[in-house]
Amino acid sequence: MRKVKIGIIGCGNISAAYLRTVRSFSVLEAVALADIDQARAKARAEEFGVPVACSNEELLANPGIEIVVNLTIPQAHRDVSLAAIAAGKNVYTEKPLAITREDGAKIIAAAQAKGVRVGCAPGTFIGGGLQTCRKLIDDGAIGRPVACSGFMMSHGAEHWHPDPAFLYQVGAGPMFDMGPYYLTALTTMLGPITRVAGTAGIQISPRIITSKPQYGEEIIVRTPDHVTGTFTFVSGVIGTLITSTAVWGSVLPRIEIYGTEGTLSVPDPNSLGGPVRLSKAGSSEWEEVPLTHGHADSHLMWGIGVADMAHALVSGRAHRASGAQGYHVLELMQAFLESSRDAQYAHIQSTIERPKALPLGLPEDLLDD
Ligand SMILES: NC(=O)c1ccc[n+]([C@@H]2O[C@H](COP(=O)([O-])OP(=O)(O)OC[C@H]3O[C@@H](n4cnc5c(N)ncnc54)[C@H](O)[C@@H]3O)[C@@H](O)[C@H]2O)c1
Repeated sequence: MRKVKIGIIGCGNISAAYLRTVRSFSVLEAVALADIDQARAKARAEEFGVPVACSNEELLANPGIEIVVNLTIPQAHRDVSLAAIAAGKNVYTEKPLAITREDGAKIIAAAQAKGVRVGCAPGTFIGGGLQTCRKLIDDGAIGRPVACSGFMMSHGAEHWHPDPAFLYQVGAGPMFDMGPYYLTALTTMLGPITRVAGTAGIQISPRIITSKPQYGEEIIVRTPDHVTGTFTFVSGVIGTLITSTAVWGSVLPRIEIYGTEGTLSVPDPNSLGGPVRLSKAGSSEWEEVPLTHGHADSHLMWGIGVADMAHALVSGRAHRASGAQGYHVLELMQAFLESSRDAQYAHIQSTIERPKALPLGLPEDLLDD
């Protein structure tokens, strides 16, 4: 199998995790790294043995690179992705696709015009935990799904992220930063969403950074840090979601899916593994369901969506973590905030087809062709 050469733009915190995954998938080869802070690109290249550290422009001019992986901060996603597309590259971007619907639509339209692909994180739904849940639902283990809930309850990242201010600006916050994991998982399992009703607010500001090197600095929160809402799937399933960075402790589950014949307890969508648990109608017991699919180990996380896109490029099939899904999720996230601001339902214009389920029995270093 031929390897697909990738170049990474944005060599901050998450780039190391991507570069570790690249080593684990035989289809991927990282050939160049870039960052506006070129010292960061150089340091990562040395750490992971990537041959070239260069400017964005030099990376985009490299004819061997087939996928540009955009790991910049959300506020830079649009410009970096558009530049990659203009250079004729396929682009896989970290979430969110962009920070507004309009910017997201520009990326999708530019890629269509240029005949290149757009992929968008998260790819965690390709992992063994969520693929097992998908199979259980499709096989009827909980009967007909009627409702679902998701809870992302945290107190933010200013105690661990080395440069956390971007997480409290427009285009981040708990909904744009963590909502993609929940909304991508839910729409992968249950299909597209048609309307959203949100309530959101800035509940705790300013924030004091307790991580290094910015210990003691203040962040003014510019986007809601507690976002709640209900939503309706095209299928009629009714959902509830809270994403918060204004909560210290919580025992709420990550995701549950309720059906006519039982309830599915879904693992953390910001992971590839389990546990997957099932409670059947009429029973108060929970059984842990063995994972039906591989790719459940955390060392495969982050780059799994890129690896899937690389296999898709080699064989010509559709890639799973798609720009279309990234755009649907972006529209949903913005809808939670706009519905709250306008005190009315937000009606969703975009739709998606669920990405194809993974076949059983794949080796750990490969996805399907
Ligand atoms: N840190 C995490 O745990 C994590 C997890 C999942 C996803 N993400 C996502 O990954 C992305 C990056 O997050 P991070 O935590 O690595 O941020 P970071 O701030 O640590 O790194 C971002 C890097 O992008 C560079 N950059 C910014 N604008 C640029 C531009 N125009 N051209 C080239 N380089 C540019 C910065 O210099 C920096 O090195 C975000 O979209 C975030 O949502 C982060």
